[in-house]
Amino acid sequence: MSNYHIKNLEEYFQVYRKSVRNPENFWEEIAEEHFLWRKRWDKVLDWDFTKPEVKWFEGAKLNITENCIDRHLVTRGNKTAILFEPNNPEEEAQHITYNDLYKRVNKFANVLKSKGIKKGDRVCIYLPMIPELAISVLACARIGAIHSVVFAGFSSNALATRINDSECKMVITSDGSYRGNKTIDLKGIVDEALRECPTIENVLVAKRINANIQMKVGRDIWLQPLLNEASEDCEAEVMDAEDPLFILYTSGSTGKPKGMLHTTAGYMVYTAYTFKNVFQYKENDVYWCTADIGWITGHSYIVYGPLANGATTVMFEGVPSYPDYGRFWEIVEKHKINQFYTAPTAIRALAKEGLSHVDNHDLSSLKILGTVGEPINEEAWHWYDDNIGKRKSPIVDTWWQTETGGIMITPIPFSTPTKPTYATLPFPGIQPALMDAEGSEIKGNQVEGRLCIKFPWPSMARTIWGNHQRYKDTYFSSFENKYFTGDGALRDEVGYYRITGRVDDVIIVSGHNLGTAPIEDAINEHPAVAESAIVGFPHDIKGNALYGYVILKDTGESRNQENVRKEINQIITEQIGPIAKLDKIQFTQGLPKTRSGKIMRRILRKIASKDISNLGDTSTLLNPEVVQGIIDEAL
Ligand code: WT7
Repeated sequence: MSNYHIKNLEEYFQVYRKSVRNPENFWEEIAEEHFLWRKRWDKVLDWDFTKPEVKWFEGAKLNITENCIDRHLVTRGNKTAILFEPNNPEEEAQHITYNDLYKRVNKFANVLKSKGIKKGDRVCIYLPMIPELAISVLACARIGAIHSVVFAGFSSNALATRINDSECKMVITSDGSYRGNKTIDLKGIVDEALRECPTIENVLVAKRINANIQMKVGRDIWLQPLLNEASEDCEAEVMDAEDPLFILYTSGSTGKPKGMLHTTAGYMVYTAYTFKNVFQYKENDVYWCTADIGWITGHSYIVYGPLANGATTVMFEGVPSYPDYGRFWEIVEKHKINQFYTAPTAIRALAKEGLSHVDNHDLSSLKILGTVGEPINEEAWHWYDDNIGKRKSPIVDTWWQTETGGIMITPIPFSTPTKPTYATLPFPGIQPALMDAEGSEIKGNQVEGRLCIKFPWPSMARTIWGNHQRYKDTYFSSFENKYFTGDGALRDEVGYYRITGRVDDVIIVSGHNLGTAPIEDAINEHPAVAESAIVGFPHDIKGNALYGYVILKDTGESRNQENVRKEINQIITEQIGPIAKLDKIQFTQGLPKTRSGKIMRRILRKIASKDISNLGDTSTLLNPEVVQGIIDEAL
């Protein structure tokens, strides 16, 4: 028997050692005992990082939707699979059982087939967080079509680029979406994008907001009437282990987005096994990840990982601030959420609003809290721990990437003692390495370097769609025979990892490497500071100097800005050293952020160096309007 469910620290170390000593054997046991295969594999793993090529469970045949749906019907047919919580709190939540999901996915799959979609075709899904999003993803997987979900906040340009890159045949969208008290004309955005997308044959349109939209004859089709007519049975396509499951775009440091390609068997095994352990899921738990399915977090930990475990997974259509900043906690209370997984950005935004929105809700159902997507600063970590988890719910700070497909470095709750701002220990099967600038591995503890992974894991992306060379160059060329994550990390005295941020965010000041994240953490400890971002700008003597953009908390009392500047540098001096002091501090109202909450430093760097003639592409920003404000303040 494999230790599918790790229950204490000793067991974690045991399992981890086994996973490193004999990875093939380790993954084979997990695959064997916990999944439904149409045919067994011939070989567990074949790999060569110099090509790079990685194959898991070669020769096996399966369909991931049989693992996520069909096999649960006997024991969990009437259990809620997807619990849909609408944007408008007055609209009723929907409990979609495994039986319902089976029928709805099959109907959808039959609709896709009737419109000529076959195994291997690419289908672009551009939908809000409504049940049709999860269902269409699974319907594609049912028939072997490759889904490419594009987050429904992306612009028409961004959408068109992604459709064209993978030559999608179909777009699935809706007549619009709700976002707080606003509606968004998604179909209009699709129409705009499709002016330059020659490969699209049909657009399937779900009804959500009853908007009066244009339907292009011969191309656009309302979904509901087709679903009504479709059969509830659809034989699952038998897929090879390494057949593509989906493409998901992620931004590169420059140039066009990278279509990360994930394949079937390894992705399924890894997301299911990580979900079970990282969230310690028990049969009657209600699990909620607040991400959008448009990101990898939603693919792996709203849809595939939870459903492969027969879990109840919540899908929330709305935003944390509507109808007020208590919405998350209202939902936790309403659905008695047991595991809650969100982003540090959301935590900071909610913390800023004060405790009045928290304290009027019963959060006693919560057992485990999670964070993902960026380093969490100490202050936000403690706010989350004190006020949401009431110091009894472990926080899993999960480090991973679109490219890794699943969680890589994380505490196992109730096993791994947590430590604020530390993602702690590698998940079983993950072999991290810290590398120095010369390309050698840095051994031992209390060290810092570039984070690489030395050995393949089942859910790693296999290529960049249409550009294997770029895949090789980006991830396998910096360090010999290793996957390079692009992140820096330190390993503390007990071997815990702390992600220090992207190494492309490193600023060299007077020959010293300074990470932006620790400096920002220090600044954020100032009681008047809500958020900050550091960039480098050219300096005659030091090469680079540090420029800080600082958002002050709205406390009502006025502060002497000169004093705050001095105090900030005082804290930095104390925490990091005088070398990390800021040369300039600009108080600002907002920071330019990508839709996944990352600060777009490229823009801040340009403004700091007074080079605003060409700010580059700002179309992927969540809040492009803040940019002009920052420029005006700077001048
Ligand atoms: C980058 C990947 C993983 C799903 C969401 C983001 C940063 C992610 C953490 C964490 C510190 C983190 C890294 C990573 N990151 N999780 N727990 N602590 N940094 O996916 O958009 O592909 O971004 O997010 O820099 O490389 P992504």
